Parts: sequence; structure tokens; C-alpha cells
Amino acid sequence: MDCLQIRGGKALAGEVRISGAKNSALPILASALLCKNPLRISNLPDVADVKTLAKLLEHLGSEIQWTSSNEITICSERIIHTKAIYDIVRKMRASILVLGPLLARFGKCEVSLPGGCAIGARPVDLHIKAMEKMGAKISISGGYIVASAPDGLKGGDIIFDKITVTGTENVLMAAALAKGVTKIVNAAKEPEVIQLCEILQNAGIEIAGVGSNELIVRGSEGELLDFKAISVIPDRIEAGTYLCAGAITNSAISLLNVLPAHLEAVSNKLCEIGFGIETQPNAITITPAKKRKAFEMITTEYPGFPTDLQAQFMALATQCEGSSSIEERLFENRFMHVSELQRLGANITLRGNVAKITGGEELIGADVMATDLRASSALVLAGLVASGQTQIHRIYHLDRGYERLEEKLSGLGAHIQRAKEQ
Ligand code: EPZ
Repeated sequence: MDCLQIRGGKALAGEVRISGAKNSALPILASALLCKNPLRISNLPDVADVKTLAKLLEHLGSEIQWTSSNEITICSERIIHTKAIYDIVRKMRASILVLGPLLARFGKCEVSLPGGCAIGARPVDLHIKAMEKMGAKISISGGYIVASAPDGLKGGDIIFDKITVTGTENVLMAAALAKGVTKIVNAAKEPEVIQLCEILQNAGIEIAGVGSNELIVRGSEGELLDFKAISVIPDRIEAGTYLCAGAITNSAISLLNVLPAHLEAVSNKLCEIGFGIETQPNAITITPAKKRKAFEMITTEYPGFPTDLQAQFMALATQCEGSSSIEERLFENRFMHVSELQRLGANITLRGNVAKITGGEELIGADVMATDLRASSALVLAGLVASGQTQIHRIYHLDRGYERLEEKLSGLGAHIQRAKEQ
């Protein structure tokens, strides 16, 4: 296993290119199951989660050609079976995204229950209820979702009790091939959901309300779709993580290949703390703050403050004067980074789903352990300012969602290297 070694205290400078969005690449890959032609997907992030889903699609019978580490051509004409096996799904819970497409196209499938992860139980009950509303019969057997819709899925009114990103994406893909019209109420409107809508629209599917919480989809009555080539949108969460790298070291750095409109809540929060933010059409520059003020933050669905940047901002809060407060509203256990940040000397107290961070304490390098994808990036950020060396273990969590992280940070002047665990 690998670990990351970081020597803190170095200011950063220069620019970093942001990769394609993992959370857009995953539903796009799943949507290839709806496609009758070979599909070219570019600007894929070279991360483990994308490789895992590609492996699942190949296991189902898709043919995938990697034309580079960031581009594939995928042909899902000859799917040989419809069972998403536990051994692959357990590695990446977003594999649940094959449920809608497989059910819509074949009228049956078995998808392993993804199980929980470090940040919470991560149930998929809303996905299952939505498929049942569209006419599927679903049972749970041996840890698998066993679904059938022998007459095909039919459009229906899906009202989500909670906003669910992959739940919305699963229903969008199912509705695209269903008979009739599907209305999705309380739909997610993350940029990744919007890109999936646009891809389906480009393939001839009528969708109204794109970008709102209410989507109306007219299905193709079972006809496979003719997709256009796709380029994955930039990763707003990776971008926010690098903005935090600039913020925590109080440096001026520029991010290239980003869409600033996807980061409004994040940029506003950074300005509130005291940083400068300048934007161009595909770039963002952060400049140092004279004084970094403590802040309050509550995570909410898009366009609110993203839960996937909560841990990174908690690391930043250790450098802000005064007491900051962070409330996590989406996941019940997304504070696994707290105890590791405390090992570095951070002054954090937890009360339920609210963390209070008293800034101004110097962080001292130590050995810490990654627990989940975004928590790991918070530890990297803290390591950039902790004095001495910070060693981060179990960084396979990081490799799931950050492309060439140590290379990109070294390019900004950080002292960071990957090493083999002793
Ligand atoms: C997506 O996960 C993202 N993953 C997550 O990013 C992100 O944190 C999350 O949305 C929230 O923005 C991908 O897009 C692949 P949800 P998802 O369904 O879809 C509850 C990362 O770090 N819920 O929007 O799984 C759920 O427990 C990852 O890149 C149900 O109760 O999240 C949570 O409390 C982590 N029943 C809330 O809804 C369900 O059937 C939002 O979850 C589904 C969800």
C-alpha cells in the first residue's frame, strides 16, 4: 500500500489543470447501456472509481477501448447478462447507477446492494421505490436487488422524499427508454445531473425543466438511443479542493479547465473568509487574504454549499481566526476527518452534526489515516500547513476520486511525495 508524505509550510504558486468530474463520468458511463452506437467519452478523470465502473460494464458485456487514460470508446450493443456482481459493486457504491438503464433496456436485472460506507448507511430505498413506481417488481434476495419489468418500464410521477443525486440520475436513464412521460419532483439539479439531461436531450429525448427540481421526460418506448460524443464537465469538487489548497497556504494560485458558475457557493464562502477570487470563462484565481476570518457553513444540495467540500473547509477553518462552525446536513457520519485533524493539533469539538473549529492553533505534522475520499483530501490540505512531516496512510481512498493529486500539488510547489508503506 502507498502513503503520502508531506512537508508543510510551503506557499504555493502557479496554475493547476482540473480534471473531468468523477460524479459526471459515472452516470455518463452507466448511460452507455442505453446507447446503440459506439460512444466516445473524453475528459474522463483517470481515477479508480471510473476504472471500477468501466470494469463492471465490461463484465456485463460492453466493449471498451481506452484511447488514452482520459478517453474511451464504449460499445454496449452486445450485453451478455444483467447481473451487477457484489465483488465489483462493493468497491464503488455508485455502481447502483446501472439499475435504471439495465431495467429499462432488458426488463430485468440483479444489482448487488452497494452497502454503506464511512460517511453513512447510504440507503438506496428511493432508487428502488422510483423503479417500482415505473412498473418494476423488486425484491431483495441474497444481498441483491432483483428487479423485473417484463412489459418494460412505464412513465410515472416520481416524488422523491429527499433530493438524491444518483437517484435522480437512475430515474432519468430509466425514463429515457420508458413508455410515456415521467415527471420527477424534488429532483437533484447538480451540474452532473444537468450534463446527463443534456446528453439524453442530444440523443433525442425530450426533457423539460433541466436545471430545476422538476423534470419531465418523454421516453423512447424502448428504442435504444443514438448518443453524440461526450466530453465530461470539469470536476467542481476537485476544483474546490485546490481552491482550499491555495486558501489554507494563503497563496495565489490559478485553476484552469473549470466552470466558475459551478462553484459560486464555494467562491462566495472564500470571499467571506477574506480571500480574493477572480474568474475567467474557464479559470479561477484565488489570492491571499490579509486576515482569514472564521465562518459558518451548512451543507445543502446544489446550488448550496456542497457536502463534498465540507471536510476540506474544516481543514481551512483551523487557519481562520476565531471559532468557525460547520453543520453537515446530508450525511449522518461525515466527520471521520475530525479525529485525524485533531491528531495534527486541530481544536475541534463536535455536537451532533455540528463541528466547532477554533482556529489559530499551529498544526504539527503526524501520521494520520484516510477514511473516505473527501476526508483524505482534508488531511492533505492540513499537511500542507502542518509543521514538519505529515504521513497519510490508506490513500487508496484518495485515488478513487483525485487524478494525479501529488503531481498536481508538486506542480504548485508543495513538498509532497508518494511512498510505499513501511
Ligand atoms: C452523490 O451521492 C455523490 N456521488 C456524492 O459524492 C455526494 O456526496 C452526494 O451525491 C450528495 O451530493 C456521486 O454522484 C457518484 P444522494 P449519492 O443520494 O447520490 C439519502 C464523493 O465524494 N438517500 O444525493 O449517493 C442519503 O443517505 C461522493 O464524490 C436515501 O435516504 O447521494 C443522503 O443522506 C460522496 N435514500 C442523501 O439522501 C436513497 O435511496 C443524499 O444522498 C438515496 C439517498
